[in-house]
Amino acid sequence: MSDLANLEKSALAALEACKDEAALRAWHTRYFGDNGEVTQALRGIGTIPSEQRRAYGQEVNRIKGSLLTAHEAAKERIKEQALAESLTSGALDVTLPGRAVPRGRLHVATRVMRRIGAIFADLGFQVYRSREVEDDETNFGQLNMPPHHPARDMWDTFHTTTPGVVLRTHTSPGQIHVMREYCPRPIRVILPGMVYRYEQVTTRSEMMFHQVEGLAVGHNITMADLKGTILAFARRMFGQEREIRIRSSYFPFTEPSIEVDVSWPVVDAESERLTKGTGWLEIMGAGMVHPVVLRNGGYDPAQYSGFAFGMGPQRMTMVLYGIDDIRLFWGNDLRFLSQF
Ligand code: DAH
Repeated sequence: MSDLANLEKSALAALEACKDEAALRAWHTRYFGDNGEVTQALRGIGTIPSEQRRAYGQEVNRIKGSLLTAHEAAKERIKEQALAESLTSGALDVTLPGRAVPRGRLHVATRVMRRIGAIFADLGFQVYRSREVEDDETNFGQLNMPPHHPARDMWDTFHTTTPGVVLRTHTSPGQIHVMREYCPRPIRVILPGMVYRYEQVTTRSEMMFHQVEGLAVGHNITMADLKGTILAFARRMFGQEREIRIRSSYFPFTEPSIEVDVSWPVVDAESERLTKGTGWLEIMGAGMVHPVVLRNGGYDPAQYSGFAFGMGPQRMTMVLYGIDDIRLFWGNDLRFLSQF
């Protein structure tokens, strides 16, 4: 009987010392395993002299019950301790500011192109995508510039190693593709895209840049339509109070040809510099489509007329945002790009 009392005491003490589930499991094996101390005590009941057996048996079973209850309680205690520990050690401060996820954005050139596209969409113009690699004939010849025509000098050209194949120097050859696809239907399109010039790269000129070409072909289209379209565009792009000014010019593919300026209020040294003090800023070349070009597109110039224009979005972006170096556009410098 005194062995039993010792057994209970030491088992309870050992249980008290258990710090985690592994220790608990070891404790259970030690006392209740196949050869556990309580298991053996239970087996031993049969060997006890009969007059003491009853009392001994009752005591062993009481101890067994009490130890198993204590074991359950210890299990619960250890579970709660583990939970409390994980809550404090993995504590989460929900008031800490989060880590900023860097957000992508559209290139400033893309944004301006989309803005121009949206304005012309409101005016009823569709976007026509045209190739960047052209043949010499479409880039120049079909636009009323036969070989050796001096006007070709206006475009310094990248020639590919395939004779007669060039990188387009302007979006104007797209006019030929549109007309041939749509003839004899009326046309109202813009042709946005990249053009290439064999240029010395400086702060003012790049060897690649965007252009947006416009073309309208139909019956009774006049210079007044061209002027109204450009004025509507300029006011949406630069402000409702803007005026436009038209100067005569020359392009082989338009007759007459014009250049268009937009009024630019001179408010500071920067705007003074941009307009060279005149208060006007050139925004595009334009004109009435030359009869030869209409015919090359399949339209009879006696029945159809049209206007065309070509502008440089990079130039517009530079004046809108005060960018003083055109090389920044394709320089892939995030310090520049992330400002927009
Ligand atoms: N293609 C001309 C250039 O790159 C711009 C231009 C001028 C386009 C007059 C036109 C136009 O459609 O009518 O300099």
